[in-house]
Amino acid sequence: MAQYIMKGGNPLVGEVSISGAKNAALGILAASVMADEDVLIENLPDVQDINMMLDAIREIGADVMRLDTHTVRINGKGIRELSVESENMTRIRASYYLIGALLGKYGRADVPMPGGCEIGQRPIDQHLKGFRALGAEVEIVNGRIRVESKKLRGEHIFFDVVSVGATINVMMAAALSEGRTILENAAKEPHIVDVANFLNSMGANIKGAGTDVIRIVGVPRFHAATYSIIPDQIEAGTFMFAAAITRGDIMVKNLIPKHMEAISAKLIEMGCEVLEFDDAIRVVGTPRLRPVNVKTLPYPGFPTDMQPQVGTAMALARGVSVLTESIFESRYRYLRELSAMGACSKVEGNTAIITGVEKFTGAEIHACDLRAGAALVLAGLAAEGITTISDIHFIQRGYEHFEEKLRALGAVIELANNERDLRKFMMVAG
Ligand code: EPZ
Repeated sequence: MAQYIMKGGNPLVGEVSISGAKNAALGILAASVMADEDVLIENLPDVQDINMMLDAIREIGADVMRLDTHTVRINGKGIRELSVESENMTRIRASYYLIGALLGKYGRADVPMPGGCEIGQRPIDQHLKGFRALGAEVEIVNGRIRVESKKLRGEHIFFDVVSVGATINVMMAAALSEGRTILENAAKEPHIVDVANFLNSMGANIKGAGTDVIRIVGVPRFHAATYSIIPDQIEAGTFMFAAAITRGDIMVKNLIPKHMEAISAKLIEMGCEVLEFDDAIRVVGTPRLRPVNVKTLPYPGFPTDMQPQVGTAMALARGVSVLTESIFESRYRYLRELSAMGACSKVEGNTAIITGVEKFTGAEIHACDLRAGAALVLAGLAAEGITTISDIHFIQRGYEHFEEKLRALGAVIELANNERDLRKFMMVAG
């Protein structure tokens, strides 16, 4: 099984360019099958979750033409199959977006229960509540979600919890239903806005995305469109924290500074210098970070997907930090891995008390999920000595060319596929 092997201690210095947003792209790819004309999607991130979604929509009959690594042309005209059988769709979370897309367009969908990172219970009741409100019959049988409706009608829907997935999913179905839908207590993440903009570019009538009330007037069909996906807020944040954790100096390019405000503010509080440009942010690390308190919240709060990265930085700060995870209940497993590197933390309920240490030391650890995996790589790059990280398939699901981007910043890191690769690394770098 592939592993990362790295020799820590080098501050990461230089420039890195951010790829398209994975979580926006997943919604956009699912929504693209709702048009019977050509839809051109640009700035697609080249990561495994995206490739799995492309395979799934190809399997149900969409015409999918990858024009280059980051550009795909999709036409949903040929879709014949409303039952999604792809084995991969049980592995990723975003498979649920095919429900909203197919229900909106054809009035029916049959999709396996979604997978994704094990970071909590992750119910989908709000998605189903929304589909039912639009007039769909919903049943869950043998691990599959079946939805069906003769006619979807707009409705006034109040979400009980703020959910990114439910907001996007119900917004997609409502965009092709009859009449007016109002989504209240909607999520406001940048990718909600991106998916709404994409739907509008195909002819949808959606207003208010990015606020907690989204108003949708259904249209009968979508048309051709060309759309470029926004930069990935979380990939950008991960590289910003890479500068803090390795005491480096990184210019993170091709991002939207507005999306990074909660992250920039925390880095400044921790003692880093953060310089903002039109579409870039430079983060200059400090010899010793200051402790801070962080609570994860829906956008514009501090993102849960940045919790392991800030937790890793706290573990190197001078003093005690308090970290509270308010979105997912099982997102602290990486702290156990960090403790093998010398970190000191205690978890009580959804709060972690992290006492910073002066340095980490290399260890054999494993990636627990996508974001935790990325944070542990940063820890390994800051640590004294050699670190190996297994289960890196989690990281490859969401970070494009992660090790290559890190190497360009001066990281000593290799992808090892076998014992021989590990030995070779040790001979050269060890
Ligand atoms: C999306 O997950 C992202 N995944 C996650 O990114 C991200 O962590 C999360 O949003 C929060 O920002 C994708 O976009 C594919 P939610 P999602 O519905 O949609 C509860 C990553 O690393 N809830 O906003 O599953 C839920 O349990 C991944 O890229 C319900 O109770 O998250 C959670 O506590 C990990 N009922 C909260 O809402 C529901 O029907 C927010 O979840 C839905 C959610």
